[in-house]
Amino acid sequence: MKIFLVAGARPNFMKIAPIVRALKAQSNPQITQIPRIEYKIVHTGQHYDYEMSQAFFDDLEIPKPDFFLDAGSGSHAAQTTKIMVSFEEVCSNERPDLVIVVGDVNSTLACSVVAKKLLIDVGHVEAGLRSFDLTMPEEINRIVTDSISDYFFVTEKSAVKNLLKEGKPKERIHFVGNVMIDNLFHQLKCLNSENPTKFPTYELKRALDDYIFLTLHRPSNVDSRETLAEIVEALNEISVEIPIVFPVHPRTKKMLDTFNIKLSDSITLLEPLGFKKSLYLWKDAVMVMTDSGGLQEETTALGVPRA
Ligand code: UD1
Repeated sequence: MKIFLVAGARPNFMKIAPIVRALKAQSNPQITQIPRIEYKIVHTGQHYDYEMSQAFFDDLEIPKPDFFLDAGSGSHAAQTTKIMVSFEEVCSNERPDLVIVVGDVNSTLACSVVAKKLLIDVGHVEAGLRSFDLTMPEEINRIVTDSISDYFFVTEKSAVKNLLKEGKPKERIHFVGNVMIDNLFHQLKCLNSENPTKFPTYELKRALDDYIFLTLHRPSNVDSRETLAEIVEALNEISVEIPIVFPVHPRTKKMLDTFNIKLSDSITLLEPLGFKKSLYLWKDAVMVMTDSGGLQEETTALGVPRA
């Protein structure tokens, strides 16, 4: 059996890492009871900067992708179609038996649609999640992907309910737990056995007694001048009480520059961080402020207070 494992944007990489580990384990020649699965990694290139992409492959020990589609940024339609055209070519040449997509980014939607139209089965990891807010591009990606998927790998019980309500067959829904949290615990173990002085933020962390770790990147928060200015005003006020450490997402950086919005000196701005560099900082923060769905789940799993 040949499987394609698709990833394109930062949150996807954390989700494929444990799947790759499991696939690697089954390819151990000493295990003979189960049929061998051949797997290929497809990176759509939706995220491409070193810290948004390669840093995650390095940290999470994901092998070099077999196919890199080099989609890059663009409007939703431009990005999605670029991924679709390239992925169609790869799928037509390789004819995998199953395409596994994860999460809810544009790459998830693009690759599931292409595979299904080529009559290739689709498995969706993190299926069934719904915000019931169609102004979020991710909600559209989730609904479309689930509407054509053959296998639903589900992280929480509410997702099972949503899928059953939408008429998905029960036997196709597999409540498997949360791959992102599997990845978190695995990486935490690795991190704890490493020398912290190797992290570039080691000195910063030592110098700050208490700090808030902040991430901010949702279009609904950063793409409007008024909303972003209001959020930054509040952050500037909070940072007087507790300093804030803020790795800035490229989208947010672009908007802060465009709107010429200034952050207070008590907010330390960093480049986007790879997985371990980020975990090293947020795991010991007094509080995490974030609009990332993934980080909300991860902080909950480690019991770090969040807002
Ligand atoms: C995407 C996902 C979002 C996820 C987020 C995590 C969709 C619809 N959105 O949003 O669900 O939470 O990733 O980061 O798929 N850019 C760079 N370098 C990069 C990547 C992006 O500079 O490596 C810049 C580009 O200017 C681009 C902007 O960031 O226009 C936004 O990137 P994009 O992939 O369109 O969406 P995200 O906001 O990252």
